[in-house]
Amino acid sequence: MPALLAEAKPEEGKTVAKKCASCHTFDPGAPNRVGPNLADMVGADIAAKPGFAYSEALTAKPGNWSYENLDAFLTKPAGFAPGTKMTFAGVPAAADRAALIAYLRSLTSNPPPLPR
Ligand code: HEC
Repeated sequence: MPALLAEAKPEEGKTVAKKCASCHTFDPGAPNRVGPNLADMVGADIAAKPGFAYSEALTAKPGNWSYENLDAFLTKPAGFAPGTKMTFAGVPAAADRAALIAYLRSLTSNPPPLPR
């Protein structure tokens, strides 16, 4: 994953993110929809966007959206958080996930450094 992330292009992730757009907004300050707004998500506490009613499955998860956690969640949401109300199968291709995470990173004002 670190090698893929180092090469990943946010513009390509923006294309992959079309899969998410039925439920999520991406622009900073945009409203929550079926899912929470995804700006400023990399490194943020899990299930912490104000005004969004998360499932217990997600609020019970400790920690933050590290690159590793995002990659695991986006591979298979119900595998990472059994019972999550994100009814989405996942993004199977690792390179697509890396591009998506690079895109999310580009929408985060103070992202943690990329993993090595
Ligand atoms: C069918 C609707 C739907 C689709 C499609 C979807 N999501 Fe979600 N997403 C949700 C919901 C609902 C939640 C809240 C889950 C919960 O509370 O269990 C969520 C939660 C999340 C979270 C955690 C947010 C937080 O504040 O902790 C991330 C990150 C996320 N989604 C990313 C994505 C990405 C990236 C995609 C596209 C690849 C995507 N989602 C596709 C509905 C969706």
